Amino acid sequence: MPFSKNTQSVRKAVIPAAGLGTRFLPVTRAVPKALLPVLNKPLIHYVAEEAAASGIREVALILGPGMDAVAEYFTDQPILESTLRQRGHTDLLHEQRGISDLVDITVIIQHTPHGLGHAVLLAKEFIGNETFAVLLPDDLIWGNTPAIEQILAVRKRYGGSVIGAREVPLDLVSKFGIIDGHLLESGVFEVKRLVEKPKPQHAPSNIAIVGRYVLEPRVLDHLANTKPGAGGEVQLTDAIAAMIGESPVHACAVEGRHADAGVPAGLLQAALYEARKDPALREAVMATVAAWQQDNIAS
Ligand code: G1P
Repeated sequence: MPFSKNTQSVRKAVIPAAGLGTRFLPVTRAVPKALLPVLNKPLIHYVAEEAAASGIREVALILGPGMDAVAEYFTDQPILESTLRQRGHTDLLHEQRGISDLVDITVIIQHTPHGLGHAVLLAKEFIGNETFAVLLPDDLIWGNTPAIEQILAVRKRYGGSVIGAREVPLDLVSKFGIIDGHLLESGVFEVKRLVEKPKPQHAPSNIAIVGRYVLEPRVLDHLANTKPGAGGEVQLTDAIAAMIGESPVHACAVEGRHADAGVPAGLLQAALYEARKDPALREAVMATVAAWQQDNIAS
């Protein structure tokens, strides 16, 4: 099918954040996973910031019931703001104001956890007929260029849909969507096939999908026809796979450090990456590691 290299700018993003966060129990009994902090900023802040830095300011937040606090995070906080003003904390006030100005939020509730594909399909009306981005707050990436901007740059060259990719160890492929592709140029693959959470012996490669996508709206039609797949959930990967052959699908190896903040070890790693930026925190980390080493020697 002929296609136009429709590279109009992408204005909208869907951020699915309805996960129950069972790996973080008990804190997620009361705090939605998207608000778990990496130092002083919650996960949701990082992806909203990444979207905004790449010129995407309209965001649909897909939340589970009772997760209003995630959306409230992006609203004005009048008591906090007037207190900061009275106390003369102008810089802090400015910073806090910036959070409510970061993106325009539309909240969509996913009442039942039917999977990532189902969550994205709930944003159908919000998306309309525009190419849109999807950012998963569990995937944090520290690159020289924001990850979604790297993906947008590939879309500019090739059109169609582009998904983020990174290499993972072969024994971990069953945790990810895996890409079967053909390398077109450094870091860019033409996608031939996608398999969600394959067993290592069935994986076509060890190139995994990271939680950054720029998708053509036609994926929504495929999502509407996608039957539950891996884990009994409606998988976004399966709907993207169904577009292959009909419109271009590429993968972009995302440059930068990555942490899977959806699991405790990854959230800790994320905090350590962030800590690098602050000399006092860096020192605290180094001192702790040194103390661990001493304890190991002593024990
Ligand atoms: C989702 C996607 C998967 C992708 C992963 C990246 O899986 O379904 O294809 O590799 O995000 O983090 P989940 O982590 O929601 O199980």
